Amino acid sequence: MTIALIESIAREIAECRACQLCESATRAVPGEGPADAAVMLIGEAPGAAEDISGRPFVGASGRLLDALLQRAGLDRSRVYIANLVKHRPPDNRDPTRAEIRSCQHFLTRQINAINPRVIVPLGRHAAKYWIPNVQIVRHHGQLYHVDDRLVVPMLHPAAALYQRSTLPLMEVDFERLGGYLRDGFPTVS
Ligand code: URA
Repeated sequence: MTIALIESIAREIAECRACQLCESATRAVPGEGPADAAVMLIGEAPGAAEDISGRPFVGASGRLLDALLQRAGLDRSRVYIANLVKHRPPDNRDPTRAEIRSCQHFLTRQINAINPRVIVPLGRHAAKYWIPNVQIVRHHGQLYHVDDRLVVPMLHPAAALYQRSTLPLMEVDFERLGGYLRDGFPTVS
């Protein structure tokens, strides 16, 4: 049932022409992972490698993400990975607010279908979706309760590709997430 729903959302995403991103993109990148994933990771938008393959986080950021997931004791095959925006913005520019808004209903429906306990937004744009006033450089790795879900915003893996000094921060955050998943999340008021 859930798989059929996720597949039908993916088909709608593939056909979506609601903003101009579909004109320059090669294909849509709906997301991938098990329909019953307890953890969902949300990036910003597909990059060049994702645009070609149709799969999220398969380029350099994706390889780093895989390594960070391992630090959390998570295999990529156990988590659902999606993006705020489902088509690649030209030249990897940031998605505009209008593009994020027009794509938002797809992500909301994916989350409702998968019903993950934990959401891990990657980077500032994704984090703002759940925590509007977030300052990602200050609040990364912290635990939030939003709409009955646990939200743990992280620095975007791409940040570590151009600023290596951020990598240890990400490693610590993912290790802490792994600890929460293993031993239980602390209660948050
Ligand atoms: N960066 C993202 O935010 N998402 C991807 O899928 C790839 C790189």
